[in-house]
Amino acid sequence: MRGMYDDLDRAPLRPDALARALEPDGWRVEVLAETGSTNAVVAERASAGEGHGLVVVAESQTAGRGRLDRTWVSPPRAGLTMSVLVRPDLPADRWSWLPLLTGLAVANALSEHAGVEAVLKWPNDVLVDGKKVCGVLVEVPEAGAAVLGIGLNVTTRADELPHDGATSLALAGASTTDRGTLLRAVLRALTVVLADVDAARTAYRERCSSIGSRVRVELPTGDAVEGTADAVDDSGRLVVDGTPYSVGDVVHLRTVSD
Ligand code: BTN
Repeated sequence: MRGMYDDLDRAPLRPDALARALEPDGWRVEVLAETGSTNAVVAERASAGEGHGLVVVAESQTAGRGRLDRTWVSPPRAGLTMSVLVRPDLPADRWSWLPLLTGLAVANALSEHAGVEAVLKWPNDVLVDGKKVCGVLVEVPEAGAAVLGIGLNVTTRADELPHDGATSLALAGASTTDRGTLLRAVLRALTVVLADVDAARTAYRERCSSIGSRVRVELPTGDAVEGTADAVDDSGRLVVDGTPYSVGDVVHLRTVSD
């Protein structure tokens, strides 16, 4: 019976309707039944000269990539696994903000259209009820192009999630789990964020729950530091007890008052 339930609950995306709805905003949406990684597909298309605005969504990914060499796993049609090609006209010092602002766009879209209060964990995890509902992996296949990879858990059940710290919109009681609606909301929010990056940086800092929290930053070297996250600086780095970090995995630590 579970298979039947999944099929009803996990309707396929409607590529034609999506492409029509998003074309006026300059997004060219393509839906693939299955691929290894949408980030890899879009990076290849960027290298072949594809312009700003390509969006590739996969109903199923077989080799989804995560940050820090991790994987991203999601059952077919249980979430949105998508990559967006942007060629933004940004000063060099704003490029490091693209991952953070992609997370912000998703958090804004969920808060405005899915009835959940979404916040950010630096750099770009989207959290609902303190758990990760969406991860972002931004890759730069060539100068001037960025691939914004987004993995959003939509109807994923608890037993399908990779760990206790993850959740899905359905588990969080969202007002919609319609993936077409969510895709449109995310891309609209991305348009708004990219149109005014300076305003978006301010909005990011307001929505980032890491700022002011006790954190542990696990560094790629294997070392970890603990302290209070004071700020996100103008380069998008997390400042912990006065020291900026550009890469790492953040754990929010409970304080005695929690
Ligand atoms: C993370 O939290 O580690 C980032 C996960 C990013 C996953 C998305 S799913 C769509 C796109 N294609 C990929 O291979 N990865 C990103």
